[in-house]
Amino acid sequence: MPISTANSFSSLVQSLGEFPPEPVVFGKSEAMQALRARMDKVASANVPVLIHGESGTGKDIIARMIHALSPWKSGPFVKVNCPAIPGTLLESELFGYEKGAFTGAYGSKPGRVELAHRGTLFLDEISELDLALQSKLLQLLQDGQFCRIGAQEDKKVEVRVVCATNRQLEEEIENGTFRQDLYYRINVVNLRMPPLRERRGDVEGLVDYFLEYYNQKYNCRARPLSADLVAILQKYHWPGNIRELENLMKRYVILGSEDVISSDLLARNDQELFNPDVNLDGPISLKKLTRQATRELERKVILKVLQAHHWNRKQAARALSISYRALLYKIRDAGLPPNRSARKRPEIVIQGAAAD
Ligand SMILES: Nc1ncnc2c1ncn2[C@@H]1O[C@H](COP(=O)(O)OP(=O)(O)OP(=O)(O)O)[C@@H](O)[C@H]1O
Ligand SMILES: [Mg+2]
Repeated sequence: MPISTANSFSSLVQSLGEFPPEPVVFGKSEAMQALRARMDKVASANVPVLIHGESGTGKDIIARMIHALSPWKSGPFVKVNCPAIPGTLLESELFGYEKGAFTGAYGSKPGRVELAHRGTLFLDEISELDLALQSKLLQLLQDGQFCRIGAQEDKKVEVRVVCATNRQLEEEIENGTFRQDLYYRINVVNLRMPPLRERRGDVEGLVDYFLEYYNQKYNCRARPLSADLVAILQKYHWPGNIRELENLMKRYVILGSEDVISSDLLARNDQELFNPDVNLDGPISLKKLTRQATRELERKVILKVLQAHHWNRKQAARALSISYRALLYKIRDAGLPPNRSARKRPEIVIQGAAAD
């Protein structure tokens, strides 16, 4: 028997919140325009959607937009963050339970699947579901039926299921940790979120948006970034995607200095130097990688020492235990500015950066 929408449990039902304006969310890049066209088409059809992409690319926003564009937009949007709920609790959170189903079940409780009736159920990080829950979800997707823990009968819901993952589910299937039949069910329509480094042309728009947003939010007056720094941000490879850019801009607005961004990026580059992004698909030249890493390390050490000695190259050479001539050569070789006054740009070289 169909159940009614459980308004009384609205605390579990997420508010949709505000989206950034659409031109900001989708930007100008081809990849995002294609994503938008696909999203517009699927939003109105009651088919499951799988959103996949790296962390921080905007999967959450897209899931909420799909709901807002769907015929069930006045219904609930219920998000389940699968990894955040301990394994033993996840089944009762998702499917609910009847009184006496287990020790401590003093009353009955609907699960989030029921709360999403006539709305959208957003399952975030779907790969975290164990195989038993995957079977129950499969049944839900096949015939809209599920069973509360301890119940005698199945219940029926009408719910649109949207799933998200930042893992390769095909690999999970090969490893035997994800059911292939479930994969086909949730993957009727697939939306791939491009990483930010594949949409470098959108970086500037996002920078402007977050600057204005956090200036307003924190009542600050941080100035627009210099063109040089924007150019550096466009070349950076953004492993944390838009979330990383947003956090960087938030810090900039609060602390009010471009040096914050420069030193942040420098520190991240340092970390990546010792955790290199090695492409395992092609041939690897250990010699080349080591040479690059050594040069980069040398460059950073020289830069830090120069800064510490207010760009006094004689003192820096002494501190580095090399000759003055050797230091001049290394400064030129590393592409560092020859002296302090020539230092127009923040001293960052982004490793492996490529223009769009
Ligand atoms: N296109 C966008 N425009 C503006 N802000 C965005 C956009 N995409 C993401 N963001 C912002 O970046 C942050 C991360 O986005 P979101 O939570 O949607 O990413 P996600 O892909 O779900 O990440 P995770 O895999 O870690 O859950 C959020 O604060 C969000 O507001
Ligand atoms: Mg998310």
